[in-house]
Amino acid sequence: MHILVSMPSHQGDKARDWAQALQHRLPTAQIAIDTGAPVDQTVDYLVTWQPRAGLLAQVPNARAIFTASAGVDALMNDPTLPHCPVVRLCDAGMGDQMASFALYAAFHYWRGFDRMRVAQNRASWSPDTGAVAPRPSVGVLGLGALGQVTARALREAGFPVSGWSRRKRDIDGVSTYAGSAEFEEFLAQTNLLICLLPLTPDTHHLLDHARFAAMPREAVVVNLARGDILVEGDLLAALDNGHLRGAMLDVFATEPLAEDHPFWAHEKVVVTPHIAAETLVEPGADQISDNINRIERGDKPLGAVDRDAGY
Ligand code: NAP
Ligand code: GLV
Repeated sequence: MHILVSMPSHQGDKARDWAQALQHRLPTAQIAIDTGAPVDQTVDYLVTWQPRAGLLAQVPNARAIFTASAGVDALMNDPTLPHCPVVRLCDAGMGDQMASFALYAAFHYWRGFDRMRVAQNRASWSPDTGAVAPRPSVGVLGLGALGQVTARALREAGFPVSGWSRRKRDIDGVSTYAGSAEFEEFLAQTNLLICLLPLTPDTHHLLDHARFAAMPREAVVVNLARGDILVEGDLLAALDNGHLRGAMLDVFATEPLAEDHPFWAHEKVVVTPHIAAETLVEPGADQISDNINRIERGDKPLGAVDRDAGY
């Protein structure tokens, strides 16, 4: 069995780490690291994150393609994507990281740390942060592997939590909404929106000026999923016209975020560099090797993407 590991060069030794972790779990496999040269052997399994241009066309006989990520948007638009299962990571240590980011955001705005930061920048002693206000109502967009862990963590921390997904989900203590028919109702009661949707044709630019306007005044947007789910110009306008109180953004339409992008210096925006939930090699390699063993046994892999839905 031939496995090819291909990671972007900016990730340093990541490809070697993945290859070693997989070799440890699949001792008889022949594992190669992509060097950027033409692929000159049949590849049974490709393990990749943001594959380089032209790579997918060179693995036409792959029995499965594994992404070292939860999101698969970097693959789905490539017309040369082979017709084999595309398998993503399901949580694999990311849920806990995502939940901790969302908890940080919820406490940040509930306790008024955004206002304290602005006051500090002006050397202004301003004890009125709104800290005695009730906890904001948190709405989680996307109730999949990461959204569910996050919604539960927020609920356990005492926040009123609701969630929105394509199909109706049932989560103890979380008010759930589903589909476009219930989207506006979901937004109207959300003070703090945590986006954990996949980027698909249906979610591309889903959060635009009309959706921001549908949220209560002083609401906050936290995007931990993909930048293109929201319209950046519309978000800036909603922050500048005072409708939205703030935004915490981990993902952007173009990454790295350009040095002159208005988000960097905006008083109401917190920028983090796509670190909300990093891929962890060990739990990731556990999932991928288990799935390779499943396929070799003739079973379906767990976490295969629905190619029609795009996630
Ligand atoms: P997932 O398990 O596939 O869950 C996706 C959720 O979104 C599901 O609840 C799904 O609804 C819902 N959804 C999809 N399309 C929808 C639509 N058109 N309308 C309403 N709901 C829709 O994904 P995940 O593992 O939780 O990951 C979510 C995303 O997080 C990834 O795709 C990735 O982009 C992002 N991510 C970011 C980072 C980071 O560091 N910033 C790290 C990891 C992941 P159903 O439940 O009905 O299927
Ligand atoms: C990271 O963004 C991921 O999709 O895992």
